[in-house]
Amino acid sequence: MNKEREQFGSRLGFILAAAGSAVGIGNLVGFPVNAAKNGGGAFLVVYALFVIALCLPVMIAELAMGRNTQKGPVGAFNQLAKRSATWSIAGFLGMLTPFMIAVFYTVISVWILGYLFMAATGDLAFLATDGTFGSYISSKHIFAAMFAVVAIIYLILKVGVQDGIEKLSKILMPALFFMLIGLVVFVLTLDNAAAGIEFYLIPDFSKITASVINGALSQAFFSLSLGMGILVTYGSYLTRRTNIVGSAKMIALADTTVAFIAGLMVMPAIFSFNPDVDPSELSSSSVGLIFVLLPKIFLALQTTIGFVGASAIATLFFLLVFFAAITSLVSIIEVPVAYLMDEKQQSRQKALSVIGVVGGTLMVVVSLSMGMVGFLSEMVSYGSGVKSLFDIIVDIFYDTILPLNGLLLCLFVSYRWKKQSFSEELSIGNEGFEGSFMQKYLNLSLGTFIPVILLLIFLNTVADKFFAYSLFGF
Ligand code: PHE
Repeated sequence: MNKEREQFGSRLGFILAAAGSAVGIGNLVGFPVNAAKNGGGAFLVVYALFVIALCLPVMIAELAMGRNTQKGPVGAFNQLAKRSATWSIAGFLGMLTPFMIAVFYTVISVWILGYLFMAATGDLAFLATDGTFGSYISSKHIFAAMFAVVAIIYLILKVGVQDGIEKLSKILMPALFFMLIGLVVFVLTLDNAAAGIEFYLIPDFSKITASVINGALSQAFFSLSLGMGILVTYGSYLTRRTNIVGSAKMIALADTTVAFIAGLMVMPAIFSFNPDVDPSELSSSSVGLIFVLLPKIFLALQTTIGFVGASAIATLFFLLVFFAAITSLVSIIEVPVAYLMDEKQQSRQKALSVIGVVGGTLMVVVSLSMGMVGFLSEMVSYGSGVKSLFDIIVDIFYDTILPLNGLLLCLFVSYRWKKQSFSEELSIGNEGFEGSFMQKYLNLSLGTFIPVILLLIFLNTVADKFFAYSLFGF
């Protein structure tokens, strides 16, 4: 197709869209709980170092590959490696990974929409009852929410990059930010809020172990939407006027700021509900927190702010998480859609229908693995125990392949595409790049210690997830 490639309309629009991708469920609950459990301020320092020293270079590399080739991961690897079979595997993984992650991320977003609906219609007591979550996710009710989520994503992606993704992000991202600030201000007025803040921020360096470091890097990598082909694809919609390095810094800053502020919302809420809570005992699963603990906290608010007030706060919270999830979902589903458009010459409409049917079917099957169908719910046993289809997809694509994709990308940029060409791409739209500290740092790190660290994480994850064995005494 010789149609002109779609583009983001403005730099701000692009930054908001990429930040929309990055800010997701991981920021709002995963990050605060991980931080609180693993050394508070000390974790924040380690996390920030990883974002700056390791993740930012990978983000810049992804964006540069996309803009240079004007293609998503499959096309970008093929074009720059002149169709080498080995590297086309990396491109293929860069497309398959987001597709599979999209499946489980959509399933979680479907539950969020269900909870949003129930909170808004005054079902707080039901949501806070033990067992509700388990029975909701294995009930047929989820299919109504699933239909709604798929329809929303379809409608946004159908109108394309500028009128769909960019416009959505320009509305939802500021809305999300204001809602978050509003909730923080409210939470800080609760009893014992200060204890939560204290726990969140006071550094405890004795908690920083090898496994915490591993966890912080994985969290940062996922949170910045790296290794999923998303930023390669978004990069392919950039104009040559855009300063990639500057934009990447803004995206990383926005994502980290939202994660940090989310901690000021979640931790005081947990402490006001139970002042004696031991955060190290909290489940680190975002799912457990959103769907089990937080509804109990919302219900408890009834005694102070009444039923309507508590329902309003709960609704606001689920709306916030839902907005964050939707802007992430459109970015991840755009990757396979762009693949079909670029490489299979399909129209946007057709590509969306194909992804909708294939992804939708998989999503239904994955949803059935939450208890509705026994065979899918208990498929195999490895590592930590019996796994459902949902668990298997998370273990393989999210935990294992994500760092592998990052590793391949770093090696590719440094040794196949070559540093020289990479630097030239980054100089476009950024006159000061040549000779800058950033250029030196990227040249040094992307071919050396960043891939080594990602390789160690990859190996450790394989050993841990699939063989319940910890490599470096993690
Ligand atoms: N960065 C997202 C988060 O923190 C991760 C993500 C991005 C997941 C895009 C899916 C799609 O939740």
